[in-house]
Amino acid sequence: MADQQYDIVILGAGSGGYAAALRGAQLGLSVALVEADKLGGTCLHRGCIPTKALLHAAEVADEIRHSAGIGVKATLEGIDMPGVNSYRDGVIGKLYKGLQGLVSAASIEYVTGWGRLVAPNTVEVDGRRLVGRNVILASGSYSKSIPGLDITGRVIASEQALQLDHVPSSVVVLGGGVIGVEFASVWKSFGADVTIIEGLPNLVPNEDPVVSKAVERAFRKRKIAFHTGARFSGVTQTDSGVTVSTEDGKSIDAEYLLVAVGRGPATANLGYEEQGVAMDRGFVLTNERLATNVPGIYAVGDIVPGLQLAHRGFQQGIFVAEEIAGLNPVVVPESGIPRVTYCEPEVASVGLTQPQAEEKYGKDSVETVDFNLAGNGKSQILGTTGFIKLVREKDGPIVGFHAVGTRVGELVNEGQLAVNWEAYPEDLASLIHAHPTQNEAVGEAALALAGKPLHSHN
Ligand code: NAI
Repeated sequence: MADQQYDIVILGAGSGGYAAALRGAQLGLSVALVEADKLGGTCLHRGCIPTKALLHAAEVADEIRHSAGIGVKATLEGIDMPGVNSYRDGVIGKLYKGLQGLVSAASIEYVTGWGRLVAPNTVEVDGRRLVGRNVILASGSYSKSIPGLDITGRVIASEQALQLDHVPSSVVVLGGGVIGVEFASVWKSFGADVTIIEGLPNLVPNEDPVVSKAVERAFRKRKIAFHTGARFSGVTQTDSGVTVSTEDGKSIDAEYLLVAVGRGPATANLGYEEQGVAMDRGFVLTNERLATNVPGIYAVGDIVPGLQLAHRGFQQGIFVAEEIAGLNPVVVPESGIPRVTYCEPEVASVGLTQPQAEEKYGKDSVETVDFNLAGNGKSQILGTTGFIKLVREKDGPIVGFHAVGTRVGELVNEGQLAVNWEAYPEDLASLIHAHPTQNEAVGEAALALAGKPLHSHN
């Protein structure tokens, strides 16, 4: 078969790859998009979307449990896991159909099959050679484990956790990062006993220390057990359960062990090294404009070292398509990417934590304010505790936004506008926030930081 020529050949149709394809086609470039599995990748089929559907079901279960407290009579009869799963699959199905429609309407050459980089400008799929003036590597990530711990039987990763057809009676979660706390939260709301083992001293250890502490307080109240600063030492399993042990001598029995110790780059056996692409521990190295060391080859998404988030992938995909089209797009720094963890309570952040800001500007050149959600009307209506914390450079812009509380994930976008536009607290304080919304708490934190607190005790 003759070689087929394109402006861009993209390997992988997850968030990064399909965004690059759509933007490239929009800019009039000819695009081939190669995918072995399903258009939409991890985020749509086994990541963001299905887990957030489960978390929404968990929120509904908790609302029913606590409904008597707001005068609504309801009884939680139980969780029908096949019912939850079909609701989840319905959500995925609609989004999947919409995405397929977008890609076919964009006249992108969508190629199904296992692709391999066989020359610096060529991806081969089942003997078909797709030659690109540019190639974008977007092959995504997989659930990692730790040496000697195989994902098998009752030792599961997030993919298997999403496929369970029942609510386990008990689970040990290895890793108190994003996936760990989200699944712990779902299972607890569904009625399981949950124990988290985290090697570092705190849950969600990448967050501002006061955020980690708040999540730990809330989890304690929810009776989600956790052992921090605890190293995993081993697991044994039988037909009915697992026994997990830690280096400090604890032993915990449960129905499953969920391994949530991070995601690795899916780059093995794809021909990257053979074609001379510089790599580090499986990640593809790029400059800040996402170009690899091989001219014409770019990389986007989870295979590029940094935050492994779908929206980072979208942005990087769009960025590279625009770069190839000669539009000279603006680089967004990693710290400007919003981060949301959808456990209950939710965690949202963008920009620098207080320790990071103090390291960058000096301890005396950083100011912070925590606005407690106790002073926010909508938060009281929802019955949530938590806070909004803003970090500013003294006499300078807001450089960090941190939030904990029910539904605060929806507030992160105001934080990201402030941080990325280098807004001063005075800028935010002069804007009117709709009442009653939780967004007002962001305005209140800015008011306090601008020296004119309203509903604040700071
Ligand atoms: P993670 O890096 O967030 O957390 C892994 C945790 O496991 C860390 O806290 C680490 O200290 C701990 N750990 C590692 N080895 C250990 C050991 N031997 N013993 C005890 N603890 C150990 O990775 P996670 O949660 O697996 O998530 C993977 C990626 O997916 C992350 O980059 C995350 O940002 C992304 N993701 C994002 C979501 C969101 O934006 N809401 C949802 C789910 C995942």
